[in-house]
Amino acid sequence: MKDAPNRYYKTMTEPIIAASILSADFARLGEDVDSVLKAGSDWVHFDVMDNHFVPNLTFGPMVCAALRAYGVSATIDVHLMIDPVDRIVPAFAKAGATYITFHPEASDDIQTTINLIQGNGCRAGLVFNPETPLDCLGTYLDQIQMVLLMSVHPGFGGQSFIPETLTKLRKAREMIDTSGKDIRLEIDGGVGVENIGEIAAAGADTFVSGSVIFGSKDYSKTIARMRAEIAKVNC
Ligand code: DX5
Ligand code: ZN
Repeated sequence: MKDAPNRYYKTMTEPIIAASILSADFARLGEDVDSVLKAGSDWVHFDVMDNHFVPNLTFGPMVCAALRAYGVSATIDVHLMIDPVDRIVPAFAKAGATYITFHPEASDDIQTTINLIQGNGCRAGLVFNPETPLDCLGTYLDQIQMVLLMSVHPGFGGQSFIPETLTKLRKAREMIDTSGKDIRLEIDGGVGVENIGEIAAAGADTFVSGSVIFGSKDYSKTIARMRAEIAKVNC
């Protein structure tokens, strides 16, 4: 009989690597995004920070639109770490976002925000901080396309993976499987070659990675090594 981690992996859809451009070279962003996609990253993970909800400031819809205008056609996975949320959603949809995920604690009304994201033609997701329980997930699970678990405290790249997230991942995987819905389970923070197998085994199917990919000399090799570790889980 297969052990539990393999059982989780068996339920997975195709694994997705989402390169977090928080660690890209901002001075030549279009080029660097092109390189990471050519190197095998499936998606662009786009971390939006407002120096209010989190203590850091990054980029907004104009930069997303600029990447689309530059020719980036991959899925853009916009992770909003901002408060308020709703005001900026239509601008991100117009700028070419594919997914828009938000933190429930930053939204005045979770249902309204989900409706707004989907009404503007994007896929919606909820993000859970390391200390936030999955309590409200059941209420919205049948309406969202993504569950994103933070495995670091949001705000900065290059932090260490919080191991307790593995237990939460297993729980979220179980909830998603029970729902029978097509919902991605994404993990964000401290993901690298060394731990991605264990993370996949716990049920993640979508892997955000920033500093490990962009900090490496050869993006292709790093991404290939990540995929090989994920594949091992299914042996
Ligand atoms: C943290 C961000 C992450 C971050 C991940 O607030 O949401 O997406 O860029 O970066 P690494 O892979 O460096 O932990
Ligand atoms: Zn993120």
